[in-house]
Amino acid sequence: MTANPLSAHLKALIAADGPLTVARYMREALLHPEHGYYTTREPFGTAGDFITAPEISQVFGELISLWCAAVWQQSGSPERMALIEFGPGRGTLMADALRAARIVPGFSGAIDVHLVEASPRLRSLQRETLADTGVTWHDSLETLPRLPSLVIGNEFFDALPIRQLIYRGGAWRERCIVWDDHSDAPRWSDMAAPDTLIRQMPERAAVPAEGDIFEICEDGRLTAGAIAQHIALHGGAGLFLDYGHGKSAYGDTFQALRRHRYVDVLDAPGTADLTAHVDFDALLASAAASGCSCFGTVTQGQFLSALGVEARVERLAQEASPRQTMTLRSSARRLIEPTEMGTLFKAVAIAAPEVDALPGFGPPRSL
Ligand SMILES: C[S@@+](CC[C@H](N)C(=O)[O-])C[C@H]1O[C@@H](n2cnc3c(N)ncnc32)[C@H](O)[C@@H]1O
Repeated sequence: MTANPLSAHLKALIAADGPLTVARYMREALLHPEHGYYTTREPFGTAGDFITAPEISQVFGELISLWCAAVWQQSGSPERMALIEFGPGRGTLMADALRAARIVPGFSGAIDVHLVEASPRLRSLQRETLADTGVTWHDSLETLPRLPSLVIGNEFFDALPIRQLIYRGGAWRERCIVWDDHSDAPRWSDMAAPDTLIRQMPERAAVPAEGDIFEICEDGRLTAGAIAQHIALHGGAGLFLDYGHGKSAYGDTFQALRRHRYVDVLDAPGTADLTAHVDFDALLASAAASGCSCFGTVTQGQFLSALGVEARVERLAQEASPRQTMTLRSSARRLIEPTEMGTLFKAVAIAAPEVDALPGFGPPRSL
């Protein structure tokens, strides 16, 4: 392992508190106030560690904006509606969305922009990107305005910490990280799993085999439930895109990306992006329990195609140079093609209980 300041901090933490759950490790590695990944790094783009859909094509944010405008109209075009983004990164999606919002009469003037962002460094980047916009930042949902709301999030839930259960010798145990004094590095171990964690597994889970892993994102479930409560109470809808699986399943999806390559999740913590696939079933079950209608999953390719991605690209191409047209078309293909981001990435939506249709989705699901 490459030693670094965050490793020294983790070593001290393990000495003081004992083994770390995967969630605690992820939280420290991503958001430690001095040495965390999101606090210190510029992760986005070709020079960074990964690239996200809004950084690939402006069309992504524009189509999400048109989805929001359609929901605003469906809600009776209220005079004020909050547009809330969770985990806005560089602010690119929001900038593209606000530009596109101007083409829908009345919509731009009706929305108040709110960003929920944990990283102070990314907040200042968002402040630069959205310099001409009145924006309010929030640490959590508790301070969000009591208004009908359009809530969006792209690659937000995959950054939230997961816990991992592992099936060993006929029982579920919790995977954890301990300090190995011989190699002076963190290593994997497992410990007794609390009943409260095991009870969060789906009732109809398949019979496990030795070594099977089940991941639980408690923060994701709580956040989805709280967003759903907000929407059920104040009206509106939420749209979330991320990579993950539509049905809860066994598997180890905890991963680290550095400079666009997969690396060991325990190597040089704080210098690689750590994520896990989103269990959309579990998120929607939390939203349903809070009283919302739930839609999806649909693949990102299906969703963007249903919103008219090709037509939007060709419209932009009419005013673009041949070179720009090539880029517009190839980046849109990257978003929708099954071999690129079209299938692994998925969209889900939630809405106030009386809503029975949303653009880009089939009928609501029963969960
Ligand atoms: C993978 S980035 C996605 C950025 C952006 N949505 C995009 O598509 O380019 C994850 C974002 O979520 C933020 N984030 C991570 N954990 C968070 C938390 N607990 N609360 C709020 N924001 C969080 C990160 O700082 C970052 O802005």
